[in-house]
Amino acid sequence: MHQLPLPHSSAIAHSQQLTAQIIQKIAAHHNQIPFADFMHMALYAPGLGYYHVGNQKLGQYGDFITAPEISPLFSYSLAYYLNTLYTHISASLGAYILEVGAGSGKMALHLLQYLQQQNSLPEKYYILELSPDLQQKQQHLLQQKLPDIYPRIVWLDTLPQNFKGIILANEVLDAMPVHLLSWQANQLQEKYVSYHHPKQSFYFTDGELSHPLLSQKGEYIASLQHHTSPYITEVNLLAESWLASIADCLEAGVCIVIDYGFPEQEYYHPDRNTGTLMCHYQHHSHTDPFFYPGLQDITAHVNFTALANTAVQHAMQVNAFTTQAYFLLGNHLVEFAQQQIATSPSSNIYPISQAVRTLTLAEEMGELFKVLVLSKNITMPAPHFTDLRQHL
Ligand SMILES: C[S@@+](CC[C@H](N)C(=O)[O-])C[C@H]1O[C@@H](n2cnc3c(N)ncnc32)[C@H](O)[C@@H]1O
Repeated sequence: MHQLPLPHSSAIAHSQQLTAQIIQKIAAHHNQIPFADFMHMALYAPGLGYYHVGNQKLGQYGDFITAPEISPLFSYSLAYYLNTLYTHISASLGAYILEVGAGSGKMALHLLQYLQQQNSLPEKYYILELSPDLQQKQQHLLQQKLPDIYPRIVWLDTLPQNFKGIILANEVLDAMPVHLLSWQANQLQEKYVSYHHPKQSFYFTDGELSHPLLSQKGEYIASLQHHTSPYITEVNLLAESWLASIADCLEAGVCIVIDYGFPEQEYYHPDRNTGTLMCHYQHHSHTDPFFYPGLQDITAHVNFTALANTAVQHAMQVNAFTTQAYFLLGNHLVEFAQQQIATSPSSNIYPISQAVRTLTLAEEMGELFKVLVLSKNITMPAPHFTDLRQHL
């Protein structure tokens, strides 16, 4: 079906090892596991899952590219916003930042470089990273590029308790395993993964809902808009419990979530009847989650309304919701680009203006990516960019 590049033999061997583990798990569960369990193993199985091993994931030579990888301009604009927040709230908070899921470490690098120039360095910059491989890459990059700031950077294994400060998560929630719900002849079921031994392939089956919350979610989704069956969509229970634990660990401060996704009305629109599940392999985007488990990223879009509701249920406030374009343009993206151009030889102008386009144009990342600003126990400044909270 796909014309995806064939992995080299050692990568195939690696995928076969993970595949064998998944097959074992499926066999132990009467030949079907919820898709969320399959996705969890494919991405996070110790030593074998996509995020656990030392493959090149992010960037030009990896499988996908994120905003901090496209250009430092993204992180400069975010740092500009953090700086405006600091001047407003740091007296009560002290200056601490916690980045969840820091990828290659480039966002931390450019945020800290900008904050250092502004004399606004945080006392500590914490990183919580599940992937041992990415943690190593982050440490290598930051130690090399920021030797003087490096002692302020601390890697954590779990969320801290009673944290005061700013928590950042860029493209973390889209990498969390999702449950797939399916309506066939108006009957709600869940998608499971089974294994066909003669054909040596995974395939989807339908079954009963595997988690008590899913029937509640299913009823709610069906009540939002009338969709006709067949209809498939995702529910990200982990993203909601992750946000609940962020709210619990945050004594006072801000949490900024940046990711691709929609408010619920758009997420569960009747026309989006095959959901948002996407896979990324060597810059090819496709929809086959069974392609070489462990070698490709599997993602789903984020439901920002569900996150905002979870935040409110856990004593947080929703301070702003906007598109990446509005957020970056409101935080001096163009001015940062102009500064870069002014200090670069003319041959470098094209990639800089191209980065601004990629980050902000509606048909690129500008509209699909959203920014959600949440706070707890502090008074926040009003957003200085277009606020779309009414759409949540
Ligand atoms: C798509 S990458 C994005 C990386 C980076 N933030 C960027 O924008 O380039 C997803 C990152 O989230 C991490 N991750 C996923 N779930 C996580 C969790 N529950 N806690 C901490 N990190 C997580 C992955 O290991 C990876 O670093």
